[in-house]
Amino acid sequence: MNTTLNQIPETEPQRQFYYMNLAKELLSKKEKELGRKLTFHVTTFGCQMNARDSEKLVGILESIGYEESDEEDSDFVIYNTCTVRDNANQKVYGRLGYLNGFKKKNPEMKIALCGCMMQEESVIEKIKKSYSFVDLIFGTHNIYKFAELVCRMLTSKKMVIDVWQSTDKIVEELPTERKYAFKSGVNIMFGCNNFCSYCIVPYVRGRERSRQPKDIIKEIETLVCDGVVEVMLLGQNVNSYGKNLEEPVTFSELLEEVCKIEGLQRVRFMTSHPKDLSDDLIRVMKENKKICRHMHLPLQSGSSRLLQDMNRHYDKEKYLSLVAKLREAMPDIAITTDIIVGYPEETEEDFLETMDVAEKVEFNSAFTFIYSPRTGTPAAEKKQIPEEITKDRFQRLLRVVQEKGQKKTAEMTGNVEEVLVEQVNEHDDTLVTGRCDNNTLVHFKGDASLIGQIVSVKLTECKGFYFMGELV
Ligand code: SAH
Ligand code: SF4
Ligand code: F3S
Repeated sequence: MNTTLNQIPETEPQRQFYYMNLAKELLSKKEKELGRKLTFHVTTFGCQMNARDSEKLVGILESIGYEESDEEDSDFVIYNTCTVRDNANQKVYGRLGYLNGFKKKNPEMKIALCGCMMQEESVIEKIKKSYSFVDLIFGTHNIYKFAELVCRMLTSKKMVIDVWQSTDKIVEELPTERKYAFKSGVNIMFGCNNFCSYCIVPYVRGRERSRQPKDIIKEIETLVCDGVVEVMLLGQNVNSYGKNLEEPVTFSELLEEVCKIEGLQRVRFMTSHPKDLSDDLIRVMKENKKICRHMHLPLQSGSSRLLQDMNRHYDKEKYLSLVAKLREAMPDIAITTDIIVGYPEETEEDFLETMDVAEKVEFNSAFTFIYSPRTGTPAAEKKQIPEEITKDRFQRLLRVVQEKGQKKTAEMTGNVEEVLVEQVNEHDDTLVTGRCDNNTLVHFKGDASLIGQIVSVKLTECKGFYFMGELV
């Protein structure tokens, strides 16, 4: 090794580039010993934010010289975890046992765990005790140090654990590898300050931090030069973007700037919090055809009493009026949502309020979740609802959201829509699959040459939540 300690840069991202080179040397030595390439696989749990983080991990691993594999039977497996509901955690524990089976057969194999679940102390304790074969654990705040952590892992015989409680840092310009050539997520902010009473995200992702508009614009311009036509601006509450910047900027101002980027054809964003959805945002959406006609607007509950208890800062009427304003400005907008059933102390009356909103709004689609108590959040301390009641309510709500979602989707039958072709259909390779501006999926005859193009498609047959169509 021709690198010496005193050359390690203090500043980022230079420090990580140094470690990428070091890891490259370590890896090529190992490859010479083994006479083969070393492979990696990243498995992502959770939301778009985690998916984007995984692309950063992949970018760094590829620059180090690992080869990506489709299989978890690889030399380096990374689980980027989620802890928003307990079933996300259980999935990780279940699959770790299965990974250990591979590790027993491959002495070179390394296993890393990162992401939101790792920010919980009880999780780290459990892994140390019951899953001691894990090689590296890190959290959400130091993901930018991945190259450095990989070096530590490759040179250590013990489990490496590095989890930070918080950070105010945003490190720009590390390599990322996109899953799709033509579309990309772009973080505009990190963390969350809202502390909804049921939610663990602020505890595991830290305080809200917005990126500088110039960094966001520069990243999107680079993506566009590289063939990207659609971006999804990502944040836990994009509507509060920019409030804490030294020179405050609103989300709608940022959107207007993003729309000016030449060559960029579609802009999506996620997630909008109803409490911060401004009239100005609705105006900017209406005026800019590049902004997709889709609003994901989590409702959580239709009961104003529960919304207050959840610390959401809006009530049923405010939510319904936002939907009315959005539809008035953009009649073809698709509205989708998240709803929690079985929140502590939810009464039948509270639940019927949620059903009422679902009936009235007719969401294009809705993610419905059974409430999951998360340690450390205020709602977890409250009296919980019996499982049978929650399950019954969940089924009743599911019936309504499915029926309304299908009705809303069917309204598009016969339309000719602009569709961004994403992939060859997974079940029938004479078909391709793409998304309409409002995010509805459509399958139609075509081949791989169409991938990444925006084409006109007639929606001929509604199949519930998606369409069969014809290229026109
Ligand atoms: N920032 C987004 C949501 C992020 S989490 C927002 O504020 O809308 C995604 C969804 O998971 C939430 O909208 C909520 O519906 C659900 N969720 C969060 N915590 C949960 C919990 N403890 N139990 C069940 N669902 C939960
Ligand atoms: Fe969780 Fe609420 Fe923040 Fe969304 S806004 S991430 S639900 S605390
Ligand atoms: Fe899960 Fe973390 Fe996203 S808890 S939902 S992966 S921010």
